[in-house]
Amino acid sequence: MSVERTFSIIKPDAVAAGHAGEILAAIEAAGFKVLAARMARLSEAQARGFYAVHAEKPFYAGLVKFMTEGPIIVMALERDNAIAGLREVMGATNPEKAAEGTIRKRFATSIERNCIHGSDAPETAAVELGFFFGAAELL
Ligand code: CMP
Repeated sequence: MSVERTFSIIKPDAVAAGHAGEILAAIEAAGFKVLAARMARLSEAQARGFYAVHAEKPFYAGLVKFMTEGPIIVMALERDNAIAGLREVMGATNPEKAAEGTIRKRFATSIERNCIHGSDAPETAAVELGFFFGAAELL
């Protein structure tokens, strides 16, 4: 496996509930290096753009509303097999289906308010990292 980068968001529900530290600790315990991280507050236009791939889905409007309701923490992460590895640490999108010990099992409250985002493929990771971070921040 080669070193890979992925993008992650600690979502508004988890930041508001005070779970950001525990989520970051779980990510670091899984061997990820935090290349860059910062707090952000998405505008409606930014949330619509970030989730444009879901624009036709019935949950899109609710997702945009949720992602703009409060501060988030955006992160650039690096590890061997980072994309699949983070998705394993996060657990299934629906916390009811997430494995014991995963971040979503521990902290998510519904399929929408699921506490963390992680890129799903190398192409999306590159786009999502570029959405929030400049090249100079990812050296
Ligand atoms: P995320 O990994 O950020 O990618 C898309 C997001 O849409 C997902 O996490 C959930 O927050 C949300 N989502 C996915 N499926 C559903 C669904 N069926 N109903 C509501 N929200 C969903």
